[in-house]
Amino acid sequence: MATFAVLGSGGWGTAIAVSLAQKAGNRVRLWCARSETCRVLRETRVNDRQLAGIPIPPTITITDDPGEATESADCWIAAVPTAFLRSTAIRWKPFARETTPVVSLTKGIETTTFRRPTEILEDVLGVTRLVAVSGPSHAEEVARGMPTSVVAASPDAGLAGWVQAHLGSERLRVYTNADLIGVELAGALKNVIGIAAGCCDGLKFGDNAKAAMLTRGLVEMTRFGVAHGADPATFAGLAGLGDLITTCFSPHGRNRRVGERLARGDTLADVQSGPQVAEGVYTAKSVYDRVTVMGLEVPIMAAVYQVLYTGKPAVGAVSELLSRRQRG
Ligand code: 13P
Repeated sequence: MATFAVLGSGGWGTAIAVSLAQKAGNRVRLWCARSETCRVLRETRVNDRQLAGIPIPPTITITDDPGEATESADCWIAAVPTAFLRSTAIRWKPFARETTPVVSLTKGIETTTFRRPTEILEDVLGVTRLVAVSGPSHAEEVARGMPTSVVAASPDAGLAGWVQAHLGSERLRVYTNADLIGVELAGALKNVIGIAAGCCDGLKFGDNAKAAMLTRGLVEMTRFGVAHGADPATFAGLAGLGDLITTCFSPHGRNRRVGERLARGDTLADVQSGPQVAEGVYTAKSVYDRVTVMGLEVPIMAAVYQVLYTGKPAVGAVSELLSRRQRG
């Protein structure tokens, strides 16, 4: 028997709450940042904007009160986009205990500080028992009980094992990994390559170009990760290659669609006008700022930054990548 506070009622937070509630013995509360969202979810029992058609079981308590959501919870699950994670976690802070296990589902890097999601949670909440869950896991597939595998990463093997046992089910297979840095960086960086893959789609390039983008993108992700203390093997696993495949090939992928639309001539402002957050837009900036200081060679991720923030046409950026002299 375990009680979970799922903090964040976007697509991924709702999906994980639904998945947890299907396991006998779990008690689940779903916290909404906005009262209006809370009212709608309570009334309709469906997250219509992000998980249309998937019922939220009546056993899940929906609340906008962080105290009610977290009261005597065995585990908190933070599911908030990176840009809002710090300001939102401040609202949870009064209820945090140092020993409360906190799982992060967020895949990004904070732009101003270059902090990973678990570092932001540690900064704000003062907690020390942190786990990142990542991997190819489109929310609607998890919520519909379609087979999915993810990785729970923590240097604390006992804690990662606890998350594996309680989050995992017949349909959601959870592996463990001690490389927290690698798993979080892989989850963030794959979104930037997802935008590059979307540019290939928008330019109507074929499978060969996209496969090359993924493969060389994975080399850049690994190089960047290793320079930040990650294990290179992590990037060949679910959080790296696994999620890269899902992000780059899914027709619904938010990051892939950003690249596709930019390559077709839409502006970044047009692309960002919807309710969905494509984390890669922000991570591309974090990475670009970082590699400029460190002198790291990541040409695809740098090209994504230029397309997003300097107005460089995608077609020109891809041509430059293709004609670039090979250095690594
Ligand atoms: P998108 O945000 O690109 O849709 O990726 C979702 C994801 O991380 C699936 O694992």
